[in-house]
Parts: sequence; C-alpha cells; structure tokens
Amino acid sequence: SQRTLVLLKPDTVRRGLIGEVVGRIERKAGWSITALELRTLDRGTLEQHYAEHVGRPFYEPLMDFMASGPAVALVVEGERVVEGVRALAGPTDPIAAAPGSIRGDFGTIVRENLIHASDSEESAEREIKIFFPGLA
Ligand code: GTP
Ligand code: MG
Repeated sequence: SQRTLVLLKPDTVRRGLIGEVVGRIERKAGWSITALELRTLDRGTLEQHYAEHVGRPFYEPLMDFMASGPAVALVVEGERVVEGVRALAGPTDPIAAAPGSIRGDFGTIVRENLIHASDSEESAEREIKIFFPGLA
C-alpha cells in the first residue's frame, strides 16, 4: 500500500474542524492513520516543506499563515491514498472546489484552504521525513 503526509492547516484547527476533516479520512474504507501530532510549525520545518514555492508571490504570506497557530500533521496509509486524500481535499482554490470536498465545503480563500496532502509518492516520502523524522 501507499502512505501520504497530511497537514490540517491552522485555519482548520482555529475553526474547530479537526474532527470533521479527520473523520472524512478515517471513514474511508481501508485507510488508517499511522501518525498524528498537533504542533505549531516552525519556520525551518515550513522552509523544507514548501521549498518548491520559494520566490512565488504567495510564499511569504503562506509561511506566515502556516506558522500562525497549531496545525495537525498526520501520516495516512492505504490503497492509493496519495491520490485519494487529494480527491477528498479538492482543488487548491476553494472557489473551484466542488461541494462534498473538504475545500469545497469549508474553504474560503486560496491560502486558507484547510488541508495539505502530498502530491506524489516521492513527495510523500520526502514530507514524512520532515514531519516525522523518527518514522521508518
Ligand atoms: P498543498 O496541498 O497545501 O501543497 O496545496 P496544493 O498542492 O493544492 O497547492 P500548491 O502546492 O500549489 O500550493 C501550496 C499552498 O500555497 C496552497 O495550498 C495554498 O495554501 C497556497 N497557494 C497556492 N497557490 C496560491 C496562490 O495563487 N495564491 C495564494 N495566496 N496562495 C496560494
Ligand atoms: Mg502542493
């Protein structure tokens, strides 16, 4: 099977939506949560995580937002879970996200779009090392 790194961004925590979002992941048959931690992300961790976006106009506001309060990091394992969690999340821009998806149901603006999920198996392995260095 596959694993993926999921972040519930600070807007999810502030709005009391952890249970709602984790519930959608947990209810998916055949998937399991194998690591979970609530923590305020530091700049160093975020620089590693968002290295691909350095220099983009949204980079600094994104970094500030992501460090603005506690977030939840999870590892989810299961069949086609990389593609699957991104499907549950919906497109990056909540305006473009269909009702029924996490971003479509709760999203407001593109930066505060509730959830991150790795975009490939390679990204997942890279990101899991950043957030859960102790995990094999
Ligand atoms: P993640 O799962 O968080 O990586 O989102 P994504 O893969 O759907 O989007 P991407 O990796 O392209 O961008 C990372 C994050 O930067 C997004 O989730 C948004 O929070 C933010 N972001 C991306 N594009 C824009 C943009 O055009 N404007 C703003 N303000 N934020 C953006
Ligand atoms: Mg991304």
